[in-house]
Amino acid sequence: MIFLNGKFMPIEQAAVPVLDRGFIFGDGVYELVPVYSRVPFRIDEHLARLERSLNEARIRNPYSRERWREIIAQLIAQQPYEDQGVYFQVTRGVAKRDHAFPKGVEPTVFIMSNPLVNPPAELVEAGARAVTAPDFRWLRCDIKSISLIGNCLLRQLSADVGAVETILLRDGKLTEASASNVFIVKGDVIRGPAKSNLILPGITYDVVIELAREAGMPLDIGEVSERELRAADEIWVTSSSKEVLAIVDLDGKPVGAGRPGPAFRRMYQLYQDFKRRVMRAGRQTVAA
Ligand SMILES: Cc1ncc(COP(=O)(O)O)c(C=O)c1O
Repeated sequence: MIFLNGKFMPIEQAAVPVLDRGFIFGDGVYELVPVYSRVPFRIDEHLARLERSLNEARIRNPYSRERWREIIAQLIAQQPYEDQGVYFQVTRGVAKRDHAFPKGVEPTVFIMSNPLVNPPAELVEAGARAVTAPDFRWLRCDIKSISLIGNCLLRQLSADVGAVETILLRDGKLTEASASNVFIVKGDVIRGPAKSNLILPGITYDVVIELAREAGMPLDIGEVSERELRAADEIWVTSSSKEVLAIVDLDGKPVGAGRPGPAFRRMYQLYQDFKRRVMRAGRQTVAA
């Protein structure tokens, strides 16, 4: 079952008018929340980011935080799988084609939940390949916009060579990757770009920073140059579906020792432990 504009229905029955501004202009925003053992991970943070994206895009938020939580919980309960990825998007609505915003239009809300696909254990163990490319996207990468043609074109560069991600450089600096944030490790210091208009403020990015702080792992958030990226001992990509994944080959050259490093292994474990804590807490809430 999916959710469309207030109703639950089978996906085959879901349809959106062709004049939806999501279809015509890519005029909408979205979120993807991972769900482990039916407990949504960091749902409040995802809903806060949705609210921010809607605000920045000047799209009316049709539901309160509480209502969003309810609908998402109902949708999760209707799926046959335990681990899910809940995708939700809001577009500006249906209107005669005109760039300027229409008046008095209801936003379109679509929510679906699919089985969650995390990287297989072998990839986590062995590490993954990535390539680099110039970040040619717009200057509002902080909005989680459904207009993803830039990200799709960039992702395809790595897909074309069988790599998992395209790591992006703008003006000689690391920004993020086509669908994830990026950290590097040099010595024992974890480094990553600060939040700005040039990167998506990742929920996983925040979790990794919190876990590093909690564990006393040295952290330095600020500009990372292309030279520093290429000289890194470790590179990680982070996202709700990839969690934390080590990149061991960048543009065909080994990263550090060419296998997932010690800081990665520690962070991966911290992340898995944290997930388990969240799931247990979530279950207690449900049981109470
Ligand atoms: C461009 C981009 N950066 C970063 C991320 C990671 O964000 P999150 O950790 O919230 O999934 C994503 C996730 O889809 C993304 O598309």
